[in-house]
Amino acid sequence: MKKLYEEAQKEISKADSLQQIESLRVKYLGKKGKLTQILRGMGSLKPEERPIIGQIANEVREKIENILTETKNKIAQLEKEKKMKIEYLDITMPGKLYKYGHKHPMTQVLDEIKKIFLGLGFSIAEGPEIEFTYYNFEALNTPEDHPARDLQDTFYITSDILLRTQTSPVQVRTMEKTKPPIRVISPGRVYRSDEIDATHSPVFHQMEGLVVDEGITMGDLKGVLNIFAKKFFGEDTRTKFRPHFFPFTEPSAEMDVSCFACGGKGCRVCGYTGWIEILGAGMVHPNVLKMSGIDPEKYTGFAFGLGIDRITMLKYGIEDLRLLFENDMRFIEQF
Ligand code: DAH
Repeated sequence: MKKLYEEAQKEISKADSLQQIESLRVKYLGKKGKLTQILRGMGSLKPEERPIIGQIANEVREKIENILTETKNKIAQLEKEKKMKIEYLDITMPGKLYKYGHKHPMTQVLDEIKKIFLGLGFSIAEGPEIEFTYYNFEALNTPEDHPARDLQDTFYITSDILLRTQTSPVQVRTMEKTKPPIRVISPGRVYRSDEIDATHSPVFHQMEGLVVDEGITMGDLKGVLNIFAKKFFGEDTRTKFRPHFFPFTEPSAEMDVSCFACGGKGCRVCGYTGWIEILGAGMVHPNVLKMSGIDPEKYTGFAFGLGIDRITMLKYGIEDLRLLFENDMRFIEQF
C-alpha cells in the first residue's frame, strides 16, 4: 500500500488536465481501482490483521484523495489564468466612435405634419404605388381626354395599370371600404414622367387628406387647413384660398400661406408676393362620392393634397430638390 501510495503520488503530480485527474481517481480509488483490489484481498488475512490493514488502507485512500483535490485545484487555477491571458481586454485601447443617425429632413417634416393631423382626429390610410388606372383617374372624375392622363406624363405599366401620379386614389380606396365619418391623411410616393431638375423629379412625395361626413362644408375645409397652417408655419400665419380647378373636387381651391420668411412683406422665398402656395383642396365631387359607394345626397366631404418635398424645401430654404434624394452626408447632416 505504501508503494501504491508513492506510485499514485508520482503519477498525480504529473497530471496537467482535469480529465487526467479524473482518470487517475478511477485508476486508484474507483470500484475496480488498485486500492479497492487490495481491500478485496483482505479476506485472506488473519482476523487480527484486518483492522490494522483496514486502517492503513483508509489512511492511504484519504491521502490519495487529498493530493487529487490539491492537484485538481492547482490545475483549475492554471487553466483560469491561461484563459484570462487569452481573453485579456485592454481597456486603455481607443474605442470605436459610433455615429448616431437622424431622420431625413423630409421625414422630420412629414412627422410634424402627421402629428398635427393625428391631433385633429385623423388617422393614416395607405394605398399602393402601383395602381389601377381606374383609381388614379376614372374614379377621380378625370376623363379619358384629360391632359394628366397623357402617356407623356404618366408611367403606364399596362393600359390599366400605372405608377400613381398622385395620392388621391387613396381617397377612393378609403371610401370604398369605410363608412363615414371618414377622417384620413395618406402620405406616400408618387410618380410622373418628368426630367430631373431643381424642381422636378420622376418620384416625389405627396400627402392626401380626406374628410367625409354628414354636413361637411367649405367652412370645415378652411377651419382644418387654417389650424394646420398655423401649427406648422407659426401662429401668425395667415391663409388665403384662391379658386382653382381639380376634376375630383367642386368647388376647388389652392391655399396660400403668408410668407413665413418675411411675414408677408415680400422677399426672395415668396417671389416678392408675400404669399406661398402650399396645397390644393376642395369639396369632394359628388361623382367621386357616388363612384366610391357613398351617397352624395346624404354625405359631403372635403379633400386636400400637398407636396411634402415642396414644403420641406420651403421650410428649410432648400433650392434644389435633388439634394433631398441624393443623400449626400454633407447636406443631410445639416438637419
Ligand atoms: N392630386 C392633386 C395633384 O396631384 C392635389 C390635390 C388637389 C389633392 C386637390 C386633393 C385636392 O385631394 O382636393 O395635383
